[in-house]
Amino acid sequence: MRKTIRSLHKMYTTGTPITMITCYDYTFARLVQRAGADMILIGDSLGNVIQGHETTVPVELEDIIYHTRAVIRGNQDAHILSDLPFMSYQANDDDGMRAAGKLLKAGAQSVKLEGGKEIAPLVKRLVTAGVPVCGHLGLTPQSVHAMGGFRVQGRGDDAAKRLIEDALALQDAGAYMVVLEMIPAPLAAQVTEALEIPTIGIGAGNQTSGQVLVIYDMLGMNTDFTPKFLKCYANLEQEIEGALKQYKQEVVERTYPGPEHSFEK
Ligand code: KIV
Repeated sequence: MRKTIRSLHKMYTTGTPITMITCYDYTFARLVQRAGADMILIGDSLGNVIQGHETTVPVELEDIIYHTRAVIRGNQDAHILSDLPFMSYQANDDDGMRAAGKLLKAGAQSVKLEGGKEIAPLVKRLVTAGVPVCGHLGLTPQSVHAMGGFRVQGRGDDAAKRLIEDALALQDAGAYMVVLEMIPAPLAAQVTEALEIPTIGIGAGNQTSGQVLVIYDMLGMNTDFTPKFLKCYANLEQEIEGALKQYKQEVVERTYPGPEHSFEK
């Protein structure tokens, strides 16, 4: 039985940290199931780690739908949260409503949007229509060009005040959760304290209601990507490269396939 927004809220009220991880395919979704993460985010970070783009801007709604469908076949327990990608909701709220509807029809249980006060009316409309919404504040990668790069947000009194107001606006509009990306840890703690819904941090210290990481990054599959907040729990880049090199060598040497991998008759 998948975690619902109700069960996630219960974790929040009982002080149980919520584990969210991004995931984009069936095979990884099965492993996430065994590890027991509470939430899977089919994030538009797939633009970076799957598609090889520098930003999430090129990601299309169809991409998120495709990966959402693959993930839900591999995991039956985690809450499925899917991103609304860039320009699927910014041009007008009707677009956002239809895009969110397509994600739910594909199997998502809730959707994530980037932004604060300016998207509150859409959040309210979505929630009223039965679409649970997770907000996303701080570093919002869909606005990377406007922000002038991937940098820590919410520094300074004015920026911090704006961020708290945005979080409260999302909560008032009916959001069930807010992701806080790359903001100072004390500010994330302050936002968490101010809200009555869970916060999920990435680069936001350890006082949020839960954490999220991009699965390929935390498995050490791209050691060129080294933001301060990232902890690599494995070094799969080295492991996978080693395996691929060994395979190539054995093919060249004709030591693979050996008799144990061959059919006699
Ligand atoms: O797209 C994504 O993976 C995200 C997380 C980094 C929060 O939005």
